[in-house]
Amino acid sequence: MALRSLLLKLAAAAFSFSVSATAYVQKESIFAFSATDTGFQLGGPGLAPEIRVAPNDLPGVKRVANDLAADFGRVLGVDGTTVVADWDSTVSHKNNSRPVIILGTVGQSSLIDSLVDKKRLDTSGIAKKWETFSYQVVQTPWEGRNAVFVIAGSDMRGTVFGAYDVAQRIGVSPWHYWADVPPTKRQYIWASNTVYSEGPPSVKYRGIFLNDESPGLTGWGRAKFRVSQYGSPFVTDFYKLIFDLVLRLKANYVWPAMWSSMFYLDDTRNGPTATEYGVFMGTSHHEPMARADKEQGRFLRGAWDWKSNKAGVQTFMREGVTRSVNWTTIYTLGMRGSGDAASPSLDSSTLEEVIRWQQSTLTQVLGKPLSDIPQAWVMYKEVPGYLQKGMKVSDEITLLWSDDNRGNIRRIPSSSENARPGGSGMYYHFDYVGDPRNYKWINTIQLQKTWEQMTLAYDSGIHNIWIANVGDLKGLELPTAHFLALAWDRESFRDVASTKQWLKAWSALQFGEAAAEETASIMTTYGKLTARMKYEDLSRTPFAFSTLNYDEAETNLQEWTDLLSRAQRVHDSLPANVQVSFWEVVLHPVMAGRGVFEIYTKTALGSQYANEHRTSANKLAREVQAAFAADAEITRRFHSLLNGKWNNIMAQTHIGYTNWQEPPSNSLPRLSWVTSSARNALMGVSTQGSTTSFPGTTRLTLPAMSPYMSPSDRRWLEVYTRDNGTFTYSITSNASFVSISNPNRTLSAPGGTSDVRCILAVDWKSAPTGYSVASLTVTNLNATGTAATVILPIENYKVPDDFKGHVEANGVVSIEVEHSAPSPATSSEYMVVPDYGRTLSGVKLPPKTVSQSPGQGSVLVYPFYTFSNASAASLTVYLSPSENANPNSPNRYSFSVDGGSVTTVQPVPLTDGSTQPAGWAEAVIQGAYVKKSNLGRLAAGRHELRVWLLEPTMVLTKLVVDVGGLKASLLGPPESAIVGY
Ligand SMILES: *[C@@H]1O[C@H](CO)[C@@H](O)[C@H](O)[C@H]1NC(C)=O
Ligand SMILES: *[C@@H]1O[C@H](CO)[C@@H](O)[C@H](O)[C@H]1NC(C)=O
Ligand SMILES: *[C@@H]1O[C@H](CO)[C@@H](O)[C@H](O)[C@H]1NC(C)=O
Repeated sequence: MALRSLLLKLAAAAFSFSVSATAYVQKESIFAFSATDTGFQLGGPGLAPEIRVAPNDLPGVKRVANDLAADFGRVLGVDGTTVVADWDSTVSHKNNSRPVIILGTVGQSSLIDSLVDKKRLDTSGIAKKWETFSYQVVQTPWEGRNAVFVIAGSDMRGTVFGAYDVAQRIGVSPWHYWADVPPTKRQYIWASNTVYSEGPPSVKYRGIFLNDESPGLTGWGRAKFRVSQYGSPFVTDFYKLIFDLVLRLKANYVWPAMWSSMFYLDDTRNGPTATEYGVFMGTSHHEPMARADKEQGRFLRGAWDWKSNKAGVQTFMREGVTRSVNWTTIYTLGMRGSGDAASPSLDSSTLEEVIRWQQSTLTQVLGKPLSDIPQAWVMYKEVPGYLQKGMKVSDEITLLWSDDNRGNIRRIPSSSENARPGGSGMYYHFDYVGDPRNYKWINTIQLQKTWEQMTLAYDSGIHNIWIANVGDLKGLELPTAHFLALAWDRESFRDVASTKQWLKAWSALQFGEAAAEETASIMTTYGKLTARMKYEDLSRTPFAFSTLNYDEAETNLQEWTDLLSRAQRVHDSLPANVQVSFWEVVLHPVMAGRGVFEIYTKTALGSQYANEHRTSANKLAREVQAAFAADAEITRRFHSLLNGKWNNIMAQTHIGYTNWQEPPSNSLPRLSWVTSSARNALMGVSTQGSTTSFPGTTRLTLPAMSPYMSPSDRRWLEVYTRDNGTFTYSITSNASFVSISNPNRTLSAPGGTSDVRCILAVDWKSAPTGYSVASLTVTNLNATGTAATVILPIENYKVPDDFKGHVEANGVVSIEVEHSAPSPATSSEYMVVPDYGRTLSGVKLPPKTVSQSPGQGSVLVYPFYTFSNASAASLTVYLSPSENANPNSPNRYSFSVDGGSVTTVQPVPLTDGSTQPAGWAEAVIQGAYVKKSNLGRLAAGRHELRVWLLEPTMVLTKLVVDVGGLKASLLGPPESAIVGY
């Protein structure tokens, strides 16, 4: 093979790039992969590059060179090699038979620096920047050498990120180990003659917190790694896998597992290994001075109490710093009480003293000025209260703000807080143990919400630290990848549609281009369904989703079922080696999540069926039992993947919560059964939306039908067996314009068809105008005289031809907020956040908007039409569970109807900063603040609702005007019909 001639065909015109959906995360790839491509050849059949690192470069660069060589091997089938040497020390490289990659750090690599000196390489664009890299083909770098490929970093991590960026673009996913994403096999790898560069990152320190790590991650680790003398499986072999992932995701910061682990002691190589890799280690919010909470029990003399045992606590803290002098560390400062709780004896002035002492100890022990020591004080739980009470904080400390443990940022910093040299950070949760309930089983994160909250954080000046609690990590691949991508490059997430675009690009990288679009759509829907309620919260009674109104519970379960078939279809279409990864990240959460929803939905429906004495209550109960068994089976399947690679993971209990803490084991909810009774009425009839049924009640009434019914709304009644036996029914209507499906059937139990749903239809052209009533008779043909009467109210009204907007049906006008009157009525400043929240989308002001005054500024306009004369109408406003992130300007909205007086509502009360506001638990559980205001009399006819969001820190998701027909539900009625736009 004429390698030499292949090597330098830099014919740019013939070069085709693989830019597609992946371009979004990848920006523009400079690599191409087919035999007919050209450029600088990095790999071919039997050909892999030599990766050359200068002897004087940093340890992390030498280490990553081996990873890059192995990654070329994963892709090409033949490993690259690594050489640590200057250019002149060998001769083998001088011929052009093998591609050479120069990997090095500006100012730290004799290879890079010599190319710069000779003006073969320009690093002025990256030099002295934080974690920045570029790569490119360099022509005639040394005498006799035609070209080399150069990856240059501005600092050690810059170089490491450059190497891993190349690895990802040639086909090795950051998730190669943690989500079993197979490498993309390639025969050829070419690089075009372009300079590619990334960095510096948007957020300086970006990372993850391994937490709530038992039983899943701990059980898995115990079976996999040599357990430390202290009993922890989180030894260096484990952390190497974590650091590999973190760095491939271009992050640099880790809080280690700490429930029963001591990072620096469980394996004495942990500290130096993190430093060698280039990862900053921290300790969690309540573990100051680089010492694990679990070290207190073993090594602290006396109590963890500054007031009564200052000397003991100081010795303990100083030892933590002394131990860490040679390691890359971000020091957690401050102090909380024992075991992640508020301290009874600390107040603001004591805390000021604690931090003063900690800072002087840091400078003393580390021999550096405070400005060179990264430090964070975490504004978690009660801690912001100290600050709010006027506590003074040193300027060098990063104020690490936090969310409410449910993904809602509690407070954004003021501009003066941001201006401090230490700046601001954010501690965010994708997993949590605590009030109101844990969520630590599988992924429940809506990426659109992460985007909304974290761009709020970024645009509020939170640039120094972002750290996410990722629980066991496994299961939270997607939110982790998304969070770190945002932290790396906030600019590429400017567009409000970026979440879906990123998700598609991410899916393409893991599962291939063909599956990308559908996978992104599936996981977007998954995020919406989990935003409605987390799994652990579903056991609350009564069941949150209405089994009675708006077909809410059954529609929700149907959405899960549809989603599962879509995910299964994509899975089955994938090549076998990609299926495992897809199963872990996509199909598993959809399948397992649907199962839990099935359990609770059918339990709730079953209870209603039992009240009606339906024999099918027993069928539902058996289906719940089967779903419960399937849940355990799904977990077992996870454990058996890849010959048990993931044994013991996903072991968290998740069914049968009764308080905030997880139950010891999964348990079935109480099921409802019916038994044979002597009642001779075999036929039962029930109507949608009603708890009364036949034979208890002989005259049943349906909710009204109207030509403006929500498109997803249908009217039905059901006929069913109430005991074992067989009967035939027939339904007749007294109105020719009302028809019904299944007008006659034979039902039987056990074994036959026991239940039939009959759906009504109205021929609106022949229905009388105005209000009328049709009557249907359901007769049991086997039992003379046994008949139920079902009344159907019909509201055949018509809006004026020129009306545009939402139209009342059944006494409500339900509005998805993105469907406002088009601009200019609605101000174009509002942004629609697609797929945000529980139903369709959210609407908000852009993050940097200043507060608006009540009834002024940008407005959302919703024309609507009612047919009812309401004496006591009301408006229900659904908002994101966002906190008052700006305490000087709490979340508020204003509204007016028909140009009348402006009402202003503050949905969330202010607090002193140490507690959650009243109503918080309910809001985070149901994924919304729901606020109702009375509107008084509202006559039938045209109306206009105007809504002003006064703060950029809130998201509006739904509006419901009740003119007398609103029924209880979790999500509110489905959207009303819209005419005209
Ligand atoms: C830090 O590194 C220096 C130089 O290698 C060494 O002498 C010292 O013992 C190290 N300190 C600790 C606490 O490991
Ligand atoms: C119906 O018959 C089955 C089988 O004979 C019996 O197990 C069940 O209890 C009966 N159900 C009712 C509601 O009578
Ligand atoms: C049953 O319904 C069909 C229409 O679906 C109708 O033709 C037939 O007459 C009905 N039979 C009885 C017994 O009502």
